[in-house]
Amino acid sequence: MPTHQSLAGSSDEELLRRMVDTHPDRYGDAFWEFFTSRVAPSLPARPVMIDVGCGPGLFLRDLGTRYPSASLHGYDVTAAMIDHGRKLPGAGLTFTLHDVTTQPLPHAAGSVDLVSMSSVLHVIDEPLPVLAEVRRVLAPGGIFLLHDWVRRPLPAYLAWRRDEMKESGPEALRRGFRLFPVHNKYTPDDWRWLLAEAGLTVRDHTQLRPTHQIFVAY
Ligand SMILES: C[S@@+](CC[C@H](N)C(=O)[O-])C[C@H]1O[C@@H](n2cnc3c(N)ncnc32)[C@H](O)[C@@H]1O
Repeated sequence: MPTHQSLAGSSDEELLRRMVDTHPDRYGDAFWEFFTSRVAPSLPARPVMIDVGCGPGLFLRDLGTRYPSASLHGYDVTAAMIDHGRKLPGAGLTFTLHDVTTQPLPHAAGSVDLVSMSSVLHVIDEPLPVLAEVRRVLAPGGIFLLHDWVRRPLPAYLAWRRDEMKESGPEALRRGFRLFPVHNKYTPDDWRWLLAEAGLTVRDHTQLRPTHQIFVAY
């Protein structure tokens, strides 16, 4: 199966750098306002939180500063991401090399208060078994926070890569065409349908960026 990195024509290190560099924009004030009003009220004082496809681990690090008593676990299939996470300062953080398509999450059923997946599920060929695993580990009242790409027309997608990502030239255009079907796979209704098929109920959703939607499901 081609990885996101190979489709993008980037190395693991390049994807890692991009995730680190764009983290402050992706997890800025608008994200935390949404999190504080729509997610935080459901969390217990000492939550167990996991980030599946955690990349460099910076979202978990940020959660750790807001929830110092939390137990925080990051899982990713890319060794460079896990290595980065393991070097982050912060108590209660663990990072494990893990392929969510082939291994069950190492958590008991009904034991996790927050499962996050950000820009990961769209690359997974068969999302339903992964969503079933998410549902298995969620505690009663636990939240699944899905943040992922939503389908847009080709001209809008290519213009976004040119204007927002500041890409130009023939190689960048080739990459844009390679990634178009990857990033523009699911409509918001497709995501809602997938979540419902997995037995999850969407309680809230929003669009903080033109490319992504966030769903709060339980
Ligand atoms: C676009 S990055 C997003 C990283 C992070 N969630 C963030 O928003 O900064 C997608 C991540 O998903 C990971 N990933 C892809 N397939 C995976 C799988 N089957 N199991 C675990 N992680 C996976 C990749 O290694 C990569 O780190």
